[in-house]
Amino acid sequence: MSTVFVVTAYGGPEGQQLSEREAPAPRAGEIAIEVRAAGVNPADGKRREGAFGTGGRLPLAMGLEASGVVTAVGEGTEGFAVGDAVLGAPARGLGAFAEHTVLTASRSVVKPAEISFADAATLPVAGTTAYDLIHQLGLTAGQAVLVLGAGGGVGHLALQVAAAHGLTVIGVASESKRVLVEATGAAFVPSGAGVAGRVREAAPEGVDLLADLVGGEPLRELAPAATSPAAIVSAADAETAAALGGAGREQSAGALAAVTSLVRDGLVDPHVTESVPLVRAAEALAAVEAGHSRGKTVIIP
Ligand SMILES: NC(=O)c1ccc[n+]([C@@H]2O[C@H](COP(=O)([O-])OP(=O)(O)OC[C@H]3O[C@@H](n4cnc5c(N)ncnc54)[C@H](OP(=O)(O)O)[C@@H]3O)[C@@H](O)[C@H]2O)c1
Repeated sequence: MSTVFVVTAYGGPEGQQLSEREAPAPRAGEIAIEVRAAGVNPADGKRREGAFGTGGRLPLAMGLEASGVVTAVGEGTEGFAVGDAVLGAPARGLGAFAEHTVLTASRSVVKPAEISFADAATLPVAGTTAYDLIHQLGLTAGQAVLVLGAGGGVGHLALQVAAAHGLTVIGVASESKRVLVEATGAAFVPSGAGVAGRVREAAPEGVDLLADLVGGEPLRELAPAATSPAAIVSAADAETAAALGGAGREQSAGALAAVTSLVRDGLVDPHVTESVPLVRAAEALAAVEAGHSRGKTVIIP
């Protein structure tokens, strides 16, 4: 048997627990892995709460991004072999907070030896989101980007993806994350009362991309900093972004390979700040759900 962290009832954290199952087998287009690390995302808590629907069959395995070692390859699946180190997105809701799971091969890549399993586990969701946000508008080197929520899992990656692309980068985060943001080479602007004025001082000409990871009122407040409404792109709140004239994050097929290359080449560091054993998965989730993460949290089976 194999341990997995599951949702047994949609709602609060009381509806989640450790459970046992047979290690799942891969179908065509899938690879089975022994999990080495799994990234924790705000979406995990939202999924448990039913924000993405409550029609799914329970128990529902949690976790949306993982790294591990291939134990079996589904029929006709090319590009992977037993024993490969890989990173990717779990198939069929089979979860990542588990000792064993199955990944969708088309949403997985071989892990370069230069990347640790913990760092690799942050790339299928957080890494690709950061990459897509920064590249969605096709900016060129020298243009300016403002990242709102710059000290969180995706935001901190986005600062570095933007710098690697030659953009001028400003990060908005709470004062406690100043060093974290500035270490990426970005200009730091503290969030909170008066933030719009501070951003205006930092970027008097406006920014060519407002990459948002917070949404709601903080996004509305900073919207005028964008040189045009279409320069607003949000991973956190597509509805507010659209109401302002911008858009939500669009997923691109090449993002996983591209962000993996940036990490391999040392241009982007996922900055894993918390590594929590699977038996304490609930604590890891609670910390991320509190909404003020610093870098990434991963679960280690
Ligand atoms: N669409 C997608 O595919 C996709 C994929 C990944 C993530 N997301 C979404 O993107 C968002 C960010 O994800 P994440 O993983 O980076 O989350 P995270 O690690 O929890 O980071 C969120 C950051 O937001 C900041 N924040 C919270 N309230 C704020 C406020 N009022 N003003 C300014 N900053 C504030 C926090 O920093 P401070 O402590 O400094 O305030 C925190 O560092 C979430 O909503 C997530 O669901 C969407």
